[in-house]
Amino acid sequence: MSDIFKIAILPGDGIGPEIMKQAIKVLEKIEKYITKKIVIDTYIVGGAAINIYGNPLPKKTLYGCEKSNAILFGSVGGPEWDYLPLNKRPEKGSLLKLRKHFNLFANIRPTFFYKDLGILSPLKEKILYKGFDIVCIRELTGGIYFGLPNGRKGKGIDEYAFDTEIYSRFEIERIAHIAFNIALKRKKKICSIDKANVLNTSILWREVLTDISKQYISVKLEHMYIDNAVMQLMKNPSQFDVILCPNLFGDIISDQCAMISGSVGNLPSASFNQNYFGLYEPSGGSAPSIAGKNIANPIAQILSLAMLIEYSLKEKNISQKIKNAIKKILNMGYRTKDLFTDSINEKIITTDDMGTLIMETII
Ligand code: IPM
Ligand code: MN
Repeated sequence: MSDIFKIAILPGDGIGPEIMKQAIKVLEKIEKYITKKIVIDTYIVGGAAINIYGNPLPKKTLYGCEKSNAILFGSVGGPEWDYLPLNKRPEKGSLLKLRKHFNLFANIRPTFFYKDLGILSPLKEKILYKGFDIVCIRELTGGIYFGLPNGRKGKGIDEYAFDTEIYSRFEIERIAHIAFNIALKRKKKICSIDKANVLNTSILWREVLTDISKQYISVKLEHMYIDNAVMQLMKNPSQFDVILCPNLFGDIISDQCAMISGSVGNLPSASFNQNYFGLYEPSGGSAPSIAGKNIANPIAQILSLAMLIEYSLKEKNISQKIKNAIKKILNMGYRTKDLFTDSINEKIITTDDMGTLIMETII
C-alpha cells in the first residue's frame, strides 16, 4: 500500500482540461523514474460539475481527493456561471471549498526570471538585468476570503454589501513558521506585506511576525505596505526573496509577480496543510476566451506537476528534469501564443505540441 501514490486529477473548466492533458503526458513519461507506483484518477469539478450534477464540488470528487495523496488541479470558472450566487459559482463553490476542507493554509508561488522570456516582461531592461527569483507565500484559508459575516442586505439606495477580514494569532503564526523555514533555505530574508497603517488585522499580522522572527534570528524580516510593495516590485524586483502575504494581498501580488516574469501562463503553485498534503494548480485562471483553441500555455500546469513531484513525492531530481526540459524548449524558441513576440528564432506552437515537446525533451 505504502508504495502506491494516488493523484486526484481535477481538470475543471476553460483551458483546464487541455493544459492538464499536457501535464499527464509528462507524468506518463516520467513515472518510470519515480520510486512509488503512481495511480491517477480524474474527477469532475467547477462549472463542468455544475452542468452535470448541479454542484461545483460533487461528493464523488471530494471523496476522490480525500483518498488521494495529492491533488493536481486545473482551473475553474467562466462567464457561463457568473449569473449564479457567489457561493454556488465554481470559484467559491469548489476551489475555495477544497482549500478550506483540506486546510490548505500555505500557498507557495515561485516566480523567477527566464532569460529567454525577458522581452515579454513589461519591465525595462535596466531593471531586469539584475534578474529576480521570488517566492510568494500566501495565507490561503483566512482573511477576507473566508471571514464571516459577509453578504448583502437592504434594498434600493440603502442596499449594502460587506465582507469581514479576520486573522487570528494562530493563523498568522503557522504561516509565519512556513515562511521563515522557506527563508532559511534561501537568502534568509522575508518581506511581509500588510496595510498596518489602516487595518487592525495588519497590525496583529505585523506584531505576530515580529514575535516569531525572534525564533529565527538569522532571517532578516522587513515589513512593507501593500501599496508600496506593488510599486517596489515594478521598480526593483531583485530586492525581494520571500514575500509573505495575507490572503487577498497574496492574490494580487502573485499575479504581479507572474506578469513581471513574462506571462501568467508560466506560474505554478502549491498549497499545503499542516501535514504537507498538497493541492497543486497554475496561478492563472481558466482563460475562457482562449479555451478549446489549442493555444493556451501548458507550462504553469506542467510546473505545478513538477512541484507535486518535488514536495509530495520528494523526488527533487525528477522535478528538476521537467524544469530543465521546459527551459530547453523555451531556449530553442518554441512559444505558445501568449509567449510569442515575433523575434528571430521564435516558433509559435500549439498547446498540444508544447506538451509533447516538453515530454520528449525530458531525459
Ligand atoms: C488564485 C485565483 C483564485 C483566488 C480564484 C479563482 C478564486 O485567483 O488562485 O489566485 O482568488 O484565490
Ligand atoms: Mn489570483
